Amino acid sequence: MIRFDQVTKRYADGTTAVDGLSFEVAEGELVTLVGPSGCGKTTTMMMVNRLIEPTSGRIYVDGEDIATVDPVKLRRRIGYVIQQVGLFPHRTILDNTATVPALIGWKKAKARARAAELLDLVGLDPSTYGDRYPEQLSGGQRQRVGVARALAADPPVLLMDEPFGAVDPVVREQLQDEFLRMQAAVRKTVLLVTHDIEEAVRLGDRIAVYGQGRIEQFDTPGAVLGTPATPYVAEFVGADRGLKRLSVTRIEPDDLEQPAVARLDESADRAAARMRESGARWAVVLDAQGDLHGWVGLDEAALAGQDGRVTDLAHRMNAWVPVGAPLKQAFGVMLQHDAGWVAVLDGSRFLGVLTPAKLHEALRRSVDADAQGIGRDEVTFDSVADA
Ligand SMILES: Nc1ncnc2c1ncn2[C@@H]1O[C@H](COP(=O)(O)OP(=O)(O)OP(=O)(O)O)[C@@H](O)[C@H]1O
Ligand SMILES: [Mg+2]
Repeated sequence: MIRFDQVTKRYADGTTAVDGLSFEVAEGELVTLVGPSGCGKTTTMMMVNRLIEPTSGRIYVDGEDIATVDPVKLRRRIGYVIQQVGLFPHRTILDNTATVPALIGWKKAKARARAAELLDLVGLDPSTYGDRYPEQLSGGQRQRVGVARALAADPPVLLMDEPFGAVDPVVREQLQDEFLRMQAAVRKTVLLVTHDIEEAVRLGDRIAVYGQGRIEQFDTPGAVLGTPATPYVAEFVGADRGLKRLSVTRIEPDDLEQPAVARLDESADRAAARMRESGARWAVVLDAQGDLHGWVGLDEAALAGQDGRVTDLAHRMNAWVPVGAPLKQAFGVMLQHDAGWVAVLDGSRFLGVLTPAKLHEALRRSVDADAQGIGRDEVTFDSVADA
């Protein structure tokens, strides 16, 4: 969808901002450009909508060499969230959002209806915020308006330059989550600039790690964190890249252990017998549908004996995560509840438990898979043990 072919940008004063850049962004893909200040990220982005012209090389959007496309027409197909948001201070939020549709000649009512729909999409109630001015919004809300405005004309391509840069870390994570949810629904082709490796990893399907005007590595977040291509990349992603990797590696059913199970409708001594059989000190309690109800300990089940019923003994289970959640979330839940394991659910159905040992194994498996360029389920346990 977007292709750079040997693109170089040299500014009039001789600064080479971008040097022989070649990469491709697939349709519906979100690629993050990450690197230190001044490495050429904004320059890269502004060449896509021809706000900056390359010195040499070609850029293609949807197969077309953009040097041959009228810049105004080109920009209609490309939403742009600029660094520092850049809302018009004397226009209302609704009118700010409707800027592009109005520019390209939509009827006023249609442009405003579309703007209201988009404000809603980014979590701002148009009846509350539509008539306000930018200065009457918080930083996070303004950034949401920036995103809504870029989406207003429904462009297939979205350029976002540090779209969540100007807010505190908590709001930032919230905006990132909202954006990911939205992107899953609208599937734009996105180039997103950030200087924050955490953000790059969190949002990107793939990441381009920039050195000075060049891409040092272009790969999935897992691969960049697991197998940095150069010492520069290793340094840039940081010594805690193993920890960061936890947030991009997802829990799969194969990672799970099957603990002892007690049924909600059985007697305590039968449950205790089953736990003893498997050498377990506790069991998860499931109902007839296989949904998680809670857990029960061996000692209390044994003590309650024949007359006791699992349903009366079961404790509520707070340490759980949905399947597909990042390993980091499971680790966080373990620490929060001081638990040696977390239950993993598919909806309310119990799938198994994740233990620290399994968590470590899942992480190693995904590092190996990325290094070998294969799927995680293709990594045999041996290769993990050998590594
Ligand atoms: N108009 C210009 N004339 C000369 N040099 C420029 C011009 N615009 C940018 N540069 C230089 O080009 C290099 C890349 O700039 P660019 O704005 O692309 O960096 P960036 O990666 O977006 O940085 P930041 O993270 O600080 O936004 C920098 O060294 C910058 O000083
Ligand atoms: Mg920049």
